[in-house]
Amino acid sequence: MALVKANNLKIAYNSQYIIKDSNFSIEEGDFVFLTGISGSGKTSLIKSFYGEVRPEGELYIGPFNMAKIKRGSLAKLRKRLGIVFQDYKLIPEWNILRNVMLPLFIMGYDKNESEKKAMELLKKVKLSHKLDKFPAELSGGEQQRAAIARAIIHKPAMILADEPISGLDEYSASLVMDLFIMANKMGITVLIASHSLPQEFNVQYKHLHIEKGRVYELS
Ligand SMILES: Nc1ncnc2c1ncn2[C@@H]1O[C@H](COP(=O)(O)OP(=O)(O)OP(=O)(O)O)[C@@H](O)[C@H]1O
Ligand SMILES: [Mg+2]
Repeated sequence: MALVKANNLKIAYNSQYIIKDSNFSIEEGDFVFLTGISGSGKTSLIKSFYGEVRPEGELYIGPFNMAKIKRGSLAKLRKRLGIVFQDYKLIPEWNILRNVMLPLFIMGYDKNESEKKAMELLKKVKLSHKLDKFPAELSGGEQQRAAIARAIIHKPAMILADEPISGLDEYSASLVMDLFIMANKMGITVLIASHSLPQEFNVQYKHLHIEKGRVYELS
């Protein structure tokens, strides 16, 4: 079943169109790479998926048309998404453990259970020794790994990750990619925006590419 379906999708800022009549779909369980040069509209497209930017035309995410979505539905939708921002957006006043637990607080999980799940995930991204540190005390790669743990802890329907490995060294990048692959194996749809495709990647994926304002399905 299509989780995402775009029909004549357009995105504009101040009536300047950066995405024009685009048609594409993403199936449940897909692993998707979204590529395009800097300024092509990757971040804007991702923002339209979670209601930060309102598109025109039709953009269905599950049952919701993002061109028309109302606030109540948006709150519902966002609980089903895991978002990895280009600039991490960890909460500076909270330690890493609490940051990763955040989605579970929102969903009303019990504190002990949340803590257990967060510790398990932080172990997977090799941050067990940084649980009580604050984001500012972590390197960029460590913050990114924590941000990804936070984005998948509540087993969202879809993960949206904006350039999650740009600027990471090989070690951090491979930990991060392994985490996405693990999430995808659990049935989570994964969308990763990046300038280019990864060199080596052993998982079957779909390729969306933005060029001259249009989103193309390349595979
Ligand atoms: N809030 C905004 N208001 C006006 N224009 C914007 C806004 N946000 C982005 N843009 C413009 O939209 C275009 C696409 O930007 P976007 O950030 O989506 O590109 P990107 O593909 O993510 O680039 P990068 O690879 O550098 O992150 C750019 O020309 C940018 O200047
Ligand atoms: Mg961007």
